[in-house]
Amino acid sequence: SSMLRGRHFITTQEFSKDEIDLMLDLSSDLKRKFAVGELTPWLLYKTVFMIFFDESTRTRNSIEAGITQLGGHAHFLNPKVMQTAHGEVARDTAMILSRYGHAIAVRHCAYKIGNAYLRELAKHSSVPILNLQDDYYHPMQVLADMMTIREKFGQNTRGLKVGISWAYAESHLKPLSVPQSQILLFPRYGLDVTLAYPEGFDLMPEIVEQAKKNAEENGTKFEISHDMDAAFEDADIVIPKSWGGFFVSDNPEEIMAETRKHKDWICTPDKMKLAKRHAIYMHALPADRGREVVNEVIDGPQSVVIDEAENRLHTAKAVMALTMGGRP
Ligand code: CP
Repeated sequence: SSMLRGRHFITTQEFSKDEIDLMLDLSSDLKRKFAVGELTPWLLYKTVFMIFFDESTRTRNSIEAGITQLGGHAHFLNPKVMQTAHGEVARDTAMILSRYGHAIAVRHCAYKIGNAYLRELAKHSSVPILNLQDDYYHPMQVLADMMTIREKFGQNTRGLKVGISWAYAESHLKPLSVPQSQILLFPRYGLDVTLAYPEGFDLMPEIVEQAKKNAEENGTKFEISHDMDAAFEDADIVIPKSWGGFFVSDNPEEIMAETRKHKDWICTPDKMKLAKRHAIYMHALPADRGREVVNEVIDGPQSVVIDEAENRLHTAKAVMALTMGGRP
C-alpha cells in the first residue's frame, strides 16, 4: 500500500480511521510473520535517524530492532552528539538528514517545545517525521495500546469501558502525551472513556475538546471525574498512571508538593475489584512500582503490560513500513 508513503506520523488525529486500521492490521500481520520467522525485508538498506532528547527503553529498542527486522538501519542520535548542541536549527537538521536517509524519528518531551520542534522538522523534511513522544502526543504508544485491546477483546471494541487515571508521580514528571493520545484514539474505536484525576491535574483543554468531538462523532461516552474509583467501576480496561500534576504549576517543587497530596491514587487489588472480573490492567511503562501500582496487580493475571510493550515492536514496524514506503 502506498496510501501512507511519505506521511509524517505526529498524531493519530491526522489519519483517517481506515488508515489507522491499516496500521493495526499490518502490525498484526507483522507479529504473525515475526513469530514464525518469516522475513520481511521491506525497508532494505533504508535508514531511520532517531533523535532522542529524552531517555527510553521501549521506544528506542522497538524502533531499532524493528527496522533491523525490516532490513534497514536505525541510527541512534541525541542532541549532545549533534550540532543541535551548538544551536543548529531544526530546519537545517531536517533538510540535511532528509538527504541521507528515509525517516527522522524524534522523542522530545519538553513542555511547549517538543511538539513545536517536530512540527518545524516536518515543515522542512522531505522524509517522514515519526513522533516517538512529544509533549502532546505518543502515537506509537497508543497504536500498541489499541492493538493490545483488540487482541484481548476482539476486533469489535464498541461499548467497552476504559478507565484512565493519573495523579501521583514521585519519580517521573512527564507531560501528558499518553493519556492525551488515548482519549483521542479510543473513542474512534467505540470505547467509552472515563478519565479520573484530582482537580488541577487537567489535560490540555484543546485536546480534551477534540477527544469529546471524536466521542460525539462515534456515539461513545466520554466522562471526567475527580474520584479515582469512577475510572475503575465496571471497567473492561483500566489504565492508571502517575503522570503528576503537570499543569498544577510551572514550578517542579510545587508540582511535587501537590502530587504528594495524592498518594492514595494507587492501583491496588481493591481498586481492581471495582472493575469487571475479566478487566485488563494496562500501563505504557515504565511503572512506578509501589507508588502508582502494587506488584500484585502489575505482575498479576489481569496485567497485560508485557504484551502491550511487545506490541510496540509490531506497531513501530508497521508505521515505518507504511510511511517509509517499503511494503511490497
Ligand atoms: N512507553 C514508552 O514509551 O517507554 P520508553 O519511555 O521506555 O520508550
